[in-house]
Amino acid sequence: MTEQNFTLKSYTSNVENGSVKWESPSNIALVKYWGKKENQIPENPSISFTLSNCKTITEVTYKKKEGNDFSFDVIFEGENNEAFKPKIKTFFERIETYMPFLRDYHFKIKTSNTFPHSSGIASSASGMSALALCLMSVEEDLGIDYSDEYFNQKASFLARLGSGSACRSIEGELVVWGENESTESSDLFGVKFEDEIHPNFQNYQDAILLVDKGEKQVSSTVGHKLMYGHPFAKKRFTQAHENLSELKDILISGNLKRFIEVVESEALTLHAMMMTSMPYFILMKPNTLEIINKIWQFRAETGSNICFTLDAGANVHVLFPKAEADKVYEFIKTQLVVYCQNGHYICDVVGKGAKKIG
Ligand code: PMV
Repeated sequence: MTEQNFTLKSYTSNVENGSVKWESPSNIALVKYWGKKENQIPENPSISFTLSNCKTITEVTYKKKEGNDFSFDVIFEGENNEAFKPKIKTFFERIETYMPFLRDYHFKIKTSNTFPHSSGIASSASGMSALALCLMSVEEDLGIDYSDEYFNQKASFLARLGSGSACRSIEGELVVWGENESTESSDLFGVKFEDEIHPNFQNYQDAILLVDKGEKQVSSTVGHKLMYGHPFAKKRFTQAHENLSELKDILISGNLKRFIEVVESEALTLHAMMMTSMPYFILMKPNTLEIINKIWQFRAETGSNICFTLDAGANVHVLFPKAEADKVYEFIKTQLVVYCQNGHYICDVVGKGAKKIG
């Protein structure tokens, strides 16, 4: 597959207006994407669990218009939102080659998240994938018919151009993005992990502990760029390949102990890359470390298979098998909630991907 496979060369349509609606989840990477080349091509492969409860719901209403400019309104959580517009304009510019109808319609983009806006949870993965899916449905409304497989690939391809990790939110339960030796995958879009997952990893739980709900000081865009010329970049990219290959076997064999080691090491390596960038930065907060230490202590004392991962922020994703849910939630309530801002955490579970709802 190349970029050309997603180009829509010409289209004719007399469809005047319509409306489509999708919900699309967030995802949490187990092997982390950190560092990219031109055009949102990842420097290393990544794999993530698709979530279910943390999602974006987006409705796009479209109407034929005159003129040759991009024209759209954004309504976020019921209110007109100007702040999102530049990002969406850039997205339209990037995907225009693949969706030549974008200038022919005015789009009303109504969007909302199931998780609180200022929760420190990145909404770019769910938000950009939901928008990409809506635009794919518009493309279909205009009379272009796709197989489910191609529809998902192109949606993921477009979502990637909005925000890299968004390409892993279209399907579930595990999605690989980035070429590597051990799986059939692509740099251009996310691919569902098709092997049979061991029962240990089915319905895996993710409790997201909201340590810091503020805007982070360094964006992912800046963080990715700092991997250019980073002293440890080459080794890190090689390590991600190795970890992906091993994690694939772990997910099939059900080896929880090795899963914990690989996943926690990936999280700490991601943050180590930040701390060793130039300029260097730290996104973890004191309570992030308090939680990590409590998790290690709990694991040592009880033999639980609880572990943590982090994205590019201070919040902690606590991962554990479904069979341990009661025990772990009791631990979270009694020992970890004190480290969460306003005692706030979100209970999530691995899910199957985006859904068309209108
Ligand atoms: O999709 P971006 O550009 O926001 O980058 C996300 C990077 C991490 O969340 C830190 C890791 C990942 O693979 O999702």
